[in-house]
Amino acid sequence: MLRSPATQTVIDAASGSPAELLERLGNVLYLGGALIFVVIMAIALYATYAKARTVDTRTWVVGGGIVFPVLVLSALLVYALTIGNAISAIDTSRGPGSGMLRVHVVGKQWWWEVRYQLPGTQDEIVLANELHVPVGQPVELLLTSTDVIHSFWVPSLAGKVDMIPGRTNRLVIHTDEAGHYRGQCAEYCGGQHALMAFDVVAESTDEFADWIELQKQDAGAPRNAQLGLGYDAFFLARCDTCHTVRGTAADGRLGPDLTHVGSRRSLAAGALDNHIGTMAGWIAGPQEVKPGNLMPATDVLSGVELRALSAWLGSLR
Ligand code: CUA
Repeated sequence: MLRSPATQTVIDAASGSPAELLERLGNVLYLGGALIFVVIMAIALYATYAKARTVDTRTWVVGGGIVFPVLVLSALLVYALTIGNAISAIDTSRGPGSGMLRVHVVGKQWWWEVRYQLPGTQDEIVLANELHVPVGQPVELLLTSTDVIHSFWVPSLAGKVDMIPGRTNRLVIHTDEAGHYRGQCAEYCGGQHALMAFDVVAESTDEFADWIELQKQDAGAPRNAQLGLGYDAFFLARCDTCHTVRGTAADGRLGPDLTHVGSRRSLAAGALDNHIGTMAGWIAGPQEVKPGNLMPATDVLSGVELRALSAWLGSLR
């Protein structure tokens, strides 16, 4: 069954994912903790209401204070280590360089640059705030940052991994369940940390291959006069200073690559749904939506030009 959009939960892990093992470990901890709590409360109630009698305090202190915690914590340690081994088994089932799909994800204030390394080549396709993965195959993520520390977290798929400037961390994700998963930055990284989300789309191998083929393509020429006006407005407003649209003269590197921005599920790292209205609102007032982000407001465009620009960006699918 396809999951509904924007699932972000630690208690409904995707089947076949590392998060499923973490969820199992969590359940043992919650249930075990609850059981111990109930037993302790029962003993406390008994001690309060039963008729007073003398007990061997040494037995209770040594048994309840030393032997019991040592036994429980040792058992938990062994269990947690087996879970850890099972997670690394997903990781090492296909070692680095064995043809595993490799994706670089770079944390930025406050969005995610995503670069797919195309198998067998040095070529990359660059996009933002969205990851597509094929179901049933491990995907290697290489995680870093270019400004402050962020943390990559898709709770239904895997645990958190920090993204640290100057360092590359590795995370292998895997899922057998197609669907949409929401990811979120999990390390406070400045004012708009909360609006630093992304989408993960897990799909069949065929759908994934089609998506890669689509993302490889450059933007085509505007198909009608309104889209042509939008294309001109993009350069008039100097959007090309910061953004790349492959197939055009725009090759800015500061902001997200917009070659296929119309195909993405959300705008501004999950802050807005992606449609022509939100696109226009974001371009006209990015500082109202995400105060402090690096995108300046655009005040050189007329309403007609702004609508045309939004339509053109939306047509980049
Ligand atoms: Cu990036 Cu918090």
